[in-house]
Amino acid sequence: MTDSKPAAKPWGGRFTESTDAFVEEFTASIRFDHRLYRQDIAGSIAHARMLAHVGIISADEAGTISAGLEDIQAEIERGEFDWSVALEDIHMNIEARLIERVGETGKKLHTGRSRNDQVATDLRLYLRDEIDALCTVLHRLQTALVDVAEREADTIMPGFTHLQVAMPISFGHHMLAWEAMLARDHERLLDCRKRVNVMPLGAAALAGTSFPIDRAYSAQLLGFDAPAGNSLDAVSDRDFVIEFCAAASLIMMHLSRFSEELILWSSAQFNFIELPDRFCTGSSIMPQKKNPDVPELVRGKSGRVTGHLISLLMLMKGQPLAYNKDNQEDKEPLFDSVDTLAGSLRVFADMVPAIEVNHTAMAAAAQQGFSTATDLADYLVRKGIAFRDAHEIVGRAVRFGIDEGKDLSEMTLEQLQTFSGSIEADVFEVLSLTGSMAARNHAGGTAPAQVTAAIAAARQRLTR
Ligand code: ARG
Repeated sequence: MTDSKPAAKPWGGRFTESTDAFVEEFTASIRFDHRLYRQDIAGSIAHARMLAHVGIISADEAGTISAGLEDIQAEIERGEFDWSVALEDIHMNIEARLIERVGETGKKLHTGRSRNDQVATDLRLYLRDEIDALCTVLHRLQTALVDVAEREADTIMPGFTHLQVAMPISFGHHMLAWEAMLARDHERLLDCRKRVNVMPLGAAALAGTSFPIDRAYSAQLLGFDAPAGNSLDAVSDRDFVIEFCAAASLIMMHLSRFSEELILWSSAQFNFIELPDRFCTGSSIMPQKKNPDVPELVRGKSGRVTGHLISLLMLMKGQPLAYNKDNQEDKEPLFDSVDTLAGSLRVFADMVPAIEVNHTAMAAAAQQGFSTATDLADYLVRKGIAFRDAHEIVGRAVRFGIDEGKDLSEMTLEQLQTFSGSIEADVFEVLSLTGSMAARNHAGGTAPAQVTAAIAAARQRLTR
């Protein structure tokens, strides 16, 4: 970023002294909003075409402006654009360069608009594109989870509550739980997109413009669903940014929980999974270490996005209508939320298909902690015992098992019968891990047949 250009401000007419050097630095946004150059140029080309469409400028002038803007875009993309802090932001940098390149005609571009509707338009175009890109990678991650679920539908793992062994479940079922969370996240992004895709352009500074503009025409050129209905609202509210960051925070929260499981599972204590070496790092001092850095980082990064959500809520609260410079502070949290989320989703989408499952360790862990105790209680209920009594009976059997160091399935029939005369030889099927899992055979349950059905439903949803 250089400052070869003299600070000829577009508002110079009213001012008697030039901007304080530090104030210039302090108020400029070009350092971060240069990222909006494509949207700014697309918005300006659409605005110029609309001005020509309604006869405010000539078709030739619109052509000159559009060609000039396209050249500027190429200049930026070649890394040759000389960004100026004195020109404050992306809008004035590009406009000044346009005037420099095409002369007098360039000065007509800003007719009937303001930086206030311009920046809000740029930001909405930017976020719309980013939401689409995020949905693509989110879809890739969802598909990866369904693929793993399919591969591991019959794999038994202990299901936990309170991080204590609860019941045997299918590892595929567990993967589908993560997919279900991400499916809701996906819907949230798509829903947010509807409210993002509304065009502020034409609101001008705050009240609209005295020129006979055609907002439906510009909206159509830019692919917006409609022009915003109220000019004051259009230039001032950033609720669409907040809403996006709320959706992004939820996704990061889900990835953070998922990360926590991957970290626990890949520890020597659990040993349920192995993360591929290419997603891990070692220690500079302990030669044996293989650290799950990727999930740890994602877990850590989730805090940033939620922090940005809170910053944006605080940024907006207390602002009177209409535009205030406060809103310039919306960009860095939004950009960082988008980048953080995009990176986290991408690395998860790459990593999930490569997770190796340690079937033996998972099944052995499921065998511990009396994970089929509820199955025994249910069995007794089917033999005519009330559930509360059955619970009590099984509790005593578990107590015995703890003292003897034996799982329920490892006790003899005679031993089991000391707790209830209703227990018969058919109990062992019920006490097996596969039997327990297969018994939860209703929609939403962990029986492999249900997991297979859930996979089919997820695949259908993902191909819509
Ligand atoms: N850089 C400003 C922003 O990000 C653009 C709008 C400036 N408008 C103004 N009236 N100063 O919000």
